[in-house]
Amino acid sequence: MKHDHRIAVIPGDGIGPEVIAAALGPIEQAAAKHGFRLDLERLPYGADHYLATRETLPEAAFHHLRDDVDAIFLGAIGDPRVPGNEHARDILLGLRFKLDLYINFRPVRLLHSDLTPLRGNDRRIDFVIFRENTEGVYLGRGRIAGNDYVAEEVNTAAGVERIIRAAFEWAKAHGKTRVTMSDKANAVPAHRIWQETFRWVAAEFAGIEPEHRYVDALAMELVREPERFQVIVTNNLYGDILSDLGAGLVGGLGLAASANLHPGRAGLFEPVHGSAPPLAGKGIANPMAAVLTGALMFEQLAHPEAARDLERAVQATLAAGVRTPDIGGTAGTRDVAAAIAAHL
Ligand code: NAD
Ligand code: IPM
Ligand code: MN
Repeated sequence: MKHDHRIAVIPGDGIGPEVIAAALGPIEQAAAKHGFRLDLERLPYGADHYLATRETLPEAAFHHLRDDVDAIFLGAIGDPRVPGNEHARDILLGLRFKLDLYINFRPVRLLHSDLTPLRGNDRRIDFVIFRENTEGVYLGRGRIAGNDYVAEEVNTAAGVERIIRAAFEWAKAHGKTRVTMSDKANAVPAHRIWQETFRWVAAEFAGIEPEHRYVDALAMELVREPERFQVIVTNNLYGDILSDLGAGLVGGLGLAASANLHPGRAGLFEPVHGSAPPLAGKGIANPMAAVLTGALMFEQLAHPEAARDLERAVQATLAAGVRTPDIGGTAGTRDVAAAIAAHL
């Protein structure tokens, strides 16, 4: 096991720098408690840097991130002064695509019973979304012809297979018994590839029930009965939408973590939320999503016990009622981080 990890930190825009600064406290403390160190390197890329220099993510920085670090920890990218979001296309989507981080792993777990807007006081919501992360409409392929905008959705055989396979492998490794694939093959002919690939990959995983839901029906069912889902695998766009829906079931974006992965490579770890411009600078953004993202990073760096410890500390902080306003509290970003650190 390695005891020193090189982590590139990109705080980014809006609330990104606030939640990252706060979350790094408990994250570094958990590392120390478990006998390893994080060698943090802060990188300035984001809207301020872009507006000052016209540079989004320079080639040399990309090579550095590709070749020299063990993980990238990112806050959020997005700023009203960059309405076309072109810096996010290069930094956030650029890293996902160019590092070929094809798995966007987004867990949805209810960490305290009062966080769900659903009725009933014994809800056990616990599923993960495997969002395809390198294809779909996100590639931006298509054309503008006069007044017409045409977007193409890319679904390659290799791309669809590897994300479906990743979902089954994870299910198998974690004792799950069902994988749900979601597409819109009834309306989008290209989604036949999801149906066919899902069928033959599933056949390799005896003991795991494959099921299918059209994404519209799945959205409804996730609200009505989220408990029955364990692992959901879907394309890039539907995964984006369903992961915010999932976050809404368990307390909102202030608690939702994500990991962009390619097994065997350095990953990119970021909260599901964005830069939340209206909250920026107020000191009230919830840092829990960033802390839980740190736990996903620890998991990938082969420190699962440190990951569990961080999650437990977040849960204890929720139970103690130390919460930011988005989840009904009055605490600030730093208070919550301090409480998490105290629970470690
Ligand atoms: P958002 O996630 O920034 O905010 C949506 C809602 O959730 C807002 O009501 C916000 O106040 C709340 N929220 C989000 N994070 C929170 C937190 N940590 N604590 C408390 N409340 C929180 O989404 P948006 O408003 O659609 O997007 C704002 C900008 O962020 C856009 O530029 C968008 O493109 C960008 N964005 C970036 C990322 C990323 O970098 N990973 C993700 C999503 C959106
Ligand atoms: C996310 C975000 C990004 C996405 C945006 C900012 C490009 O919403 O990480 O979920 O759509 O992937
Ligand atoms: Mn999103």
